[in-house]
Amino acid sequence: MTYEFITVNPQAQKFVTLIQLNRPGELNALNRQLMTELSSALRELDADEQVRVIVLTGNEKAFAAGADIKEMADATAIDMVNRDQFATWDLIRKTKKPIIAAVSGFVLGGGCELMMNCDLIVASETARIGQPEIKIGVMPGAGGTQRLTRSVGKALAMEMVLTGRFITAEEALRAGLVNRVVPVEFYLKEALMWAQEIAQLSPVAVKLAKEAVLQAFNTSLDEGLLLERKNFYLCFASEDQKEGMKAFVEKRKPEFTGK
Ligand code: CAA
Repeated sequence: MTYEFITVNPQAQKFVTLIQLNRPGELNALNRQLMTELSSALRELDADEQVRVIVLTGNEKAFAAGADIKEMADATAIDMVNRDQFATWDLIRKTKKPIIAAVSGFVLGGGCELMMNCDLIVASETARIGQPEIKIGVMPGAGGTQRLTRSVGKALAMEMVLTGRFITAEEALRAGLVNRVVPVEFYLKEALMWAQEIAQLSPVAVKLAKEAVLQAFNTSLDEGLLLERKNFYLCFASEDQKEGMKAFVEKRKPEFTGK
């Protein structure tokens, strides 16, 4: 499939696909077409056995400056209900394979929300992260009030959502919003290296582990522990579990196949 607002490099590295948001003139503002393209690309990649890890990036100046304000400016509430544009975002959240965000420059509004939908986040030192919707008379609508609060706690989330203040990459790191901060020339390389590392592991175990961690946000401790235990037991149905444990005993590097 060809896309207008994203580029997809299916084998950026072995088992690693790179998706780049590609509306540079609008600081990668997330219009509905871009988000539809992204969710359909992710659905395809999720079903592709040659893909184990996905890296999602923008460009140095902007990961994404939010949902497309111009597209929404004249909408009525009923237009918004009928479009239900954020329903597409739920599909992104449902991706089973790990997604690593490599962010730089503006990471705002829907851009911050998209980043928070990813599983691991590498930020460039130049990243500026915020939920500035309040400054244009609205509020976050694609998870900003919920995921940000779970991630950084009430104090900082409230400050960012109520004032629209941008935080630096370093502040985001201290708050636990991103995993790593590196100089701008390395953020994408770092994310790809990390992806390569995860791509060497059992894709079965990686998927089951991702599902279990995400469940921690959605459920009681007892239910979460139950899912974790079942996923752990389920790993024993895979050849990868046999290979991984045998390789440990034989003191060699395992070769995982995803079977
Ligand atoms: N939607 C549409 N277009 C956008 C955009 C957005 N979110 N952000 C930037 N652009 C466009 C600008 O309109 C401009 O286009 P033109 O050249 O055609 O005028 C181009 O991108 C470059 O932007 P600026 O000239 O504004 O660049 P700047 O460096 O002066 O400022 C900025 C950068 C501070 C990020 C500023 O563009 C800005 O404040 N953008 C909006 C940020 C925002 O409010 N995001 C939240 C959107 S709502 C949302 O995301 C809801 C949700 O929960 C999903």
